[in-house]
Parts: sequence; C-alpha cells; structure tokens
Amino acid sequence: MKRELSSRLLSWFDARRRDLPWRNDPDPYRVWVSEVMLQQTRVEAVVPYYLAWLRRFPSIDALADADLGEVLKGWEGLGYYARARNLHRAARLVRERHGGQLPADPEALRALPGIGEYTAGAIASIAFGLPVPAVDGNVRRVLSRLFDLEDPTPVELRRLAAELVPADRPGDFNQALMELGATTCTPRSPACEACPAAELCRARAAGTQAERPRRRRAKPLPEDGVGTAVVVSPAGRVLLTRRPEHGLLGGLWEFPGEPATRGEDPVTAAARAARAVVGEHLAPGTLLGSVVHTFSHRRTTYHAVRFAALAEPRLEPPAVWAAPDELDRFALPAAQQRIAALALEAQGRQAASAAGE
Ligand code: ADE
Repeated sequence: MKRELSSRLLSWFDARRRDLPWRNDPDPYRVWVSEVMLQQTRVEAVVPYYLAWLRRFPSIDALADADLGEVLKGWEGLGYYARARNLHRAARLVRERHGGQLPADPEALRALPGIGEYTAGAIASIAFGLPVPAVDGNVRRVLSRLFDLEDPTPVELRRLAAELVPADRPGDFNQALMELGATTCTPRSPACEACPAAELCRARAAGTQAERPRRRRAKPLPEDGVGTAVVVSPAGRVLLTRRPEHGLLGGLWEFPGEPATRGEDPVTAAARAARAVVGEHLAPGTLLGSVVHTFSHRRTTYHAVRFAALAEPRLEPPAVWAAPDELDRFALPAAQQRIAALALEAQGRQAASAAGE
C-alpha cells in the first residue's frame, strides 16, 4: 500500500499540481513564509500577499531589520496577526541562533515562535528534503478516509503519515496529500471519481467517505459588542490609537473602542473610549453604522459612532490625529478598515450637503 500510494499521489501531483509561486523555488525562507500564511488562509487569498511580502522583505535579514509597524502593514488584511509578529521575532532569532539561515532540523524549527509540528514538518520536508510528515487539516481528512478512521488522534495521524512519507520526495508527497485534500478529497461531496487513490481508499470501499473523519458540531461563537469612536477634529483629522504589542491584534492601529457592557448603548461605550483619549471636548455622538467581524474565538460587532471634537488637543503616544489621506500608512485590521470606509462616506455626505448639493 505504501509504495503504491506514494507513486500514485506523486504522479497525480506531477500532472495536476497548481502553479503556486512558492513552488518555483524551495528556498527555506520562501517555504516558511508561504506555510505560515497558509496556516489559516486559503491559497487564493495568500498568493498576492505572498508576492507583495517577498518584494517588501526579500530575505530573513530584511525581515529581521524591519520594524514591527512595517511588518504588520505587510500583513494588513490577512488576519491572525500573531503570525506576523511571530515571523518577525523568529527572523531575529534565526539571525541570533542560526547565523541567519533557517535550520533543517524539525526540533530546531519548532523552537522558533509560530512554528508548530505541522509547519516544522512542512519546511523540513519541502525545503530540506527530510522524510518527515506534515499533517494539516486537509491531510487529516485524506488519511482518515484512506484508512477509514473515524476520529484519529494527532499522534495516530502523525505516526501513520510518518510511515507513508517516502524518502525520495517527501516534500512533494506531503504537498500532494494537502493538494488532494484541498481540491479533490473535499469535506463535503469528495470527487472520488477524480482521485488517484480511490482504489486504495478504505472509506470509499466501505461507503463511509462522507463521514470520515467525524465532524464535531461547532459551538456557536460568543458574541460581543464594542462602541467604536470615530473622533473627527476641526481640521478633519481622525483619532487613531495603537493596540498594545501583546494580545489580540497586538501592535495594530484602531479607532478607540470600549466593550459595551450588558444592555449599554454603544454610543455611551464609544463616548467613554473617546474621552479616555481626548478628554471632554466632544460634541454628542451619532451612530454611523455597524461592522461585524468573526475572530477564531468570538464574533464582535463594532458600532461606529462619530464625534466632532471641538479642538485638536495634543495626544500622548500611541494616539495620533491622522488625516484621511494618511490612513493607509497605518496597519488597520479588517473591521477597522470597514469603519474607516463608513467614516469617509459620512464625511463625503457632509461635504456634499455643506456644498448645497
Ligand atoms: N496548504 C498548506 N501548505 C500547502 C502547500 N505547500 N501546498 C498546498 N496547500 C497547502
């Protein structure tokens, strides 16, 4: 089974592999960046970010030399920003510990921030040709079906994958499993007729492929609400603050916000957030609209409230007044960009009505 499986998968991969930019050059840094981007983001969304990232940070040294603000700007919109902070910290550690070259050893790779079991296996096999497994969600599904496993543990899967990975083309084999899961052996209605391993597949033989692996029912995400203050100064600048470096969205910029406590009007919560930064010089707020963002662990509704500031007081860092045409210099998370769009729209409407249109 083992030889038969790897030879079928490798022939299929040779014929069908998608032409992805990180596949042209197995440079360890490139493989690393691509795998970290792919951890939580789909291939199609990753490609443009990957290309732009390499233009901006073409090497480990370039990344290590950059400051965190630039790094977050390069990641803006991809989400799960801990990945960018970890890449940046890891680039600096690679320079300190490994003379600027990514190590091949999976254990040494795992000692770097942001590199877990999967990513270490992917880098070691794809960039360095080591025969080690790399089990992500797609591979878990493919193996569960090939071996008709209902609910395998990570240790079982890893052991199985380690037995299957061939010594001669481990990186291609691992990517073939991922590719099969992404394109053919999909969660719902797998395309078994197009699968190079259909005749070897135990779940297909048993007719259980749709139920492998067993899906846990997803718990509904907790929901919360934030009052977000778009404070506009008499000169038309808006107030931005920077989040602390550690924690959710660490180091990114945002309009000041405060969680709305149970039953609280979000306008009140937003006013609290605004006053904490600029004090009392605010006209009453008006609700601009709401933006919902789903994080991995919760769903947050941001209620954007516009306040005219009666002055433009000097601010303590990390708060700044930003002109509308400067906003694109700040790394803003996706929900904040949508709030900025709401604010600009409102500004445009006001300008139009002031001009008597
Ligand atoms: N998902 C994560 N890594 C991948 C890779 N190298 N090829 C295809 N899909 C992937």
